[in-house]
Amino acid sequence: MMETITLNNGSTMPLIGTGTNTYGKEGNQYRGELNGDFSALSSAIQVGYRLIDTAISYRNEAGVGKTVHDSGVERSEFFLTTKIPVQDEYIGSAESVEQTVLQSLKNLQTDYIDLYLIHHPIEDKGKLKQTWQVLESFVDQGKLKAIGVSNFDIELLETLKSFARIQPAVNQIESNPHTWNDELIDYLFAHNIQPEAWGPLSKVTEDQESALAKIGEKYGKNWGQVLLRYQVQRGVVVIPKSHNAKRQTLNLELFDFTLTTDEMAEIKSL
Ligand SMILES: NC(=O)c1ccc[n+]([C@@H]2O[C@H](COP(=O)([O-])OP(=O)(O)OC[C@H]3O[C@@H](n4cnc5c(N)ncnc54)[C@H](OP(=O)(O)O)[C@@H]3O)[C@@H](O)[C@H]2O)c1
Repeated sequence: MMETITLNNGSTMPLIGTGTNTYGKEGNQYRGELNGDFSALSSAIQVGYRLIDTAISYRNEAGVGKTVHDSGVERSEFFLTTKIPVQDEYIGSAESVEQTVLQSLKNLQTDYIDLYLIHHPIEDKGKLKQTWQVLESFVDQGKLKAIGVSNFDIELLETLKSFARIQPAVNQIESNPHTWNDELIDYLFAHNIQPEAWGPLSKVTEDQESALAKIGEKYGKNWGQVLLRYQVQRGVVVIPKSHNAKRQTLNLELFDFTLTTDEMAEIKSL
C-alpha cells in the first residue's frame, strides 16, 4: 500500500516516486544522447510508481509525457512533477516563464501539472518574484496544482515567503547519508513546506551500507529499503531512480515495516 502526504494546497502526494533523470538516454547516462528508450519508466509505472519526477533540463520531458500517456493508467492516478530551469531563456521575462509552462503542459500531454518546481535558486529577487507570480497565475487557472522550489536554502525561502501570495508547497533537495540537510528539513517541516529528497540512494559508503543492511536483517529488507524507509517514516518524500525492474519493485516495498526509535537515531547519525 502506497502512503501519501497532504501538501499545504490540500492536494495529495505519494511518499515515494521515481526519478527519471537518465531515462530515455544512451547508456543510462545523464548527459547521454536521447534514444527514445523509456522502457525503464514503463517498468516503473507497471510496478506501481505514480509520482514521476522530470525536469526541462533532463531533456526528456516529452518522452516522459508520452510514456505516461501511453501507459493506459488514468491521468488522475499520476502525480507529475517537472521543473523550470533558471537560465534567462526560461525565466528572463514573464512571457518566457509563461511559454515554458505552456510547453511543459504540451510535452507532458496534459492540461494540468501536479507540481511545478523552480529547479535552482534564482538569486535576483526581482526575477524570482516575477517567475513566482507567473507560476501563481497558472495555479489560479488550475493548470498547475502545486508550485514549489528545489535546492533553495532557508534564506532564499524566507525571501520567497515574504512576497508569495501562494506559499511554496515543496522544496526538493538532496538528502542522503553524505548530505542529510537536516537543518533545512527541520525548517521545512516547521513552515509547512514538504521536503522531497533527491539522490536518496546516492553517496552511501560501504560502511554505511553495512550498517543499514544490518538494521534491515530482522525485517528482511536491504540497505536501500532501510534508507528509503528512514526518509518516509520521518515524512520526507523520496524519488529513487532505478533502471532495474527488480530494484524498482524493492524500493517501493517500504510500508510493511517500521523502524524503532533507536534505529531511526542510528541512521540519523550515520
Ligand atoms: N532537483 C535536483 O536538483 C535533482 C538533482 C538530482 C536528482 N534529482 C531527481 O532525483 C532523482 C533520484 O536521484 P538520482 O537518480 O540522482 O539518484 P538515486 O535515486 O539516489 O540513485 C540512483 C542510483 O542508485 C541505484 N539504485 C537504485 N535502487 C537501488 C537499490 N535498491 N540498491 C542499490 N542501488 C540502487 C541505481 O542504479 P540501477 O539503475 O542500476 O538500479 C542508480 O544508479 C533523479 O532521477 C531526479 O529525478 C533532482
